[in-house]
Amino acid sequence: MKPTNQIIAVLDFGSQYTQVIARRIRECQVYSRIYAFDTPAQKLIEDGVVGIILSGGPSSVLKKDAPRPDAKIFTLGIPILGICYGIQTLAHMLEGKVDPSAQREYGRGKLTIRKKGLLLAGIANTIQVWNSHGDKVTQLPKGFETIASTENSDCAVIADEVRQFYGLQFHPEVAHTEQGREILSNFILKICKCRGDWLMSNYVEQAIQDIQKKVGKSRVVLGLSGGVDSSVAAALIHRAIGKQLICVFVDNGLLRKNEREEVERIFSDHFKINLKVARSGKRFLKKLKGVTDPEKKRKIIGKEFVEVFDDSVKALEGVDFLAQGTLYPDVIESVPIAGNPAALIKSHHNVGGLPKRMKLKLLEPLRELFKDEVRALGKELGLSHEMVWRHPFPGPGLGVRIIGEITPARLKVLREADVILLEELKRADYYYKVWQAFCVFLPIRTVGVMGDERTYDNVIALRIVESSDAMTADWAQLPHDLIQLISSRIINEVKGVNRVCMDVSSKPPSTIEWE
Ligand code: XMP
Repeated sequence: MKPTNQIIAVLDFGSQYTQVIARRIRECQVYSRIYAFDTPAQKLIEDGVVGIILSGGPSSVLKKDAPRPDAKIFTLGIPILGICYGIQTLAHMLEGKVDPSAQREYGRGKLTIRKKGLLLAGIANTIQVWNSHGDKVTQLPKGFETIASTENSDCAVIADEVRQFYGLQFHPEVAHTEQGREILSNFILKICKCRGDWLMSNYVEQAIQDIQKKVGKSRVVLGLSGGVDSSVAAALIHRAIGKQLICVFVDNGLLRKNEREEVERIFSDHFKINLKVARSGKRFLKKLKGVTDPEKKRKIIGKEFVEVFDDSVKALEGVDFLAQGTLYPDVIESVPIAGNPAALIKSHHNVGGLPKRMKLKLLEPLRELFKDEVRALGKELGLSHEMVWRHPFPGPGLGVRIIGEITPARLKVLREADVILLEELKRADYYYKVWQAFCVFLPIRTVGVMGDERTYDNVIALRIVESSDAMTADWAQLPHDLIQLISSRIINEVKGVNRVCMDVSSKPPSTIEWE
């Protein structure tokens, strides 16, 4: 799929911020794509690249085996912006000089602007910037001038206005840099002259045509989970091919209260999507009986899911495509550079796709999009605010939120408690302000007193976190009276619970889920 004829290429040198750069560009309504740092210049031209950003990265340009871009990118006549490692690469390859700093510059710094030009147009004369670099440019390449500096680095922003090559020593993409977005936007809109027409309203039509062309008269099956990605994929594909799409929803018996009914109401009743519901709770619970090991639980749930899904698809005729709600961050290949933290983080989050043995062709209409774009697309397609802003819910569902053995009785308790938590957060207007909020069932009993009677009952833990990508998270510090209300409602209304605890751990070192 080629969504637009204007692309800003971000050459990835392994920075943990590469994706953030790409997202910031998309926020300027310009399409960006992340490329391996050594992508041939010819390929960039063929793709329609109109501007190139060299990302930061953990390496040093002074090392012999340092990653370098194809030198031909400097001969294309296309604007180039180097960020952090990128400015050093640019200076080094264009025969300036880069030296190791006496002191690694990390954290906040003050940037003083000497000359604004196109890149710094509209930026205040001094701004706070976010640094993270060891080496620095000490001698400019021919044709360049310094247009801004920090206390430690004379060449903090460099420019060759004729060739339209620019370098920033700091990170404009992170929130700690004041007016960083404006600097990026100046590069993209003023220097690369992008139109800024990458909007989901434009994207829908293009995506629909692409789906129709690819699918033809075939039928497409999609595993609908009720989460944002598969829901938006379903709505989009349905808009393109109507009844040729069949959605399969697997009720694994580990869903939250009313989840299946909600999915039926939205997709079957409202959107009139051809929806098959596989009610297989009993099958899952039978396999899970007596199992307490978290990894074993996950494996069983995953394996059963694949089998149930497979069986449902086998029962359908003429299906050639399997649709998935794969997003852009899932398909970006991490750069194999030593010390690249982004590569490690990603492998942990790689959730296994459906089996290759299904021999279906893949249809992944969201694979160009970041999460926020998927949400905007969902709104465009008529999905509700509640639907596109739902909290993430893990594939193994409540199975990983019941510590120890999963039983129908424990599921019932957890479901009832969870409903109360979500209801109160929504009522107090906190649900959409936190990343995730859920209850966890603990496999212990504690003593309590209710009326005149001594109780010996279950404990529920509240897990409410703030995060922007689930890779790191902080426990959300909500008002105490709200927590108190949730706690007393759970204890009063959920039979079998006499104690509520609050999880006050951050990730890392804890994780968001308990298993
Ligand atoms: P952790 O617990 O690793 O979770 O901090 C990070 C994010 O991933 C979700 N999660 C899962 N999602 N299948 C999924 O689809 C899983 O097995 C799974 N485990 C965790 C979790 O809810 C959080 O958003």
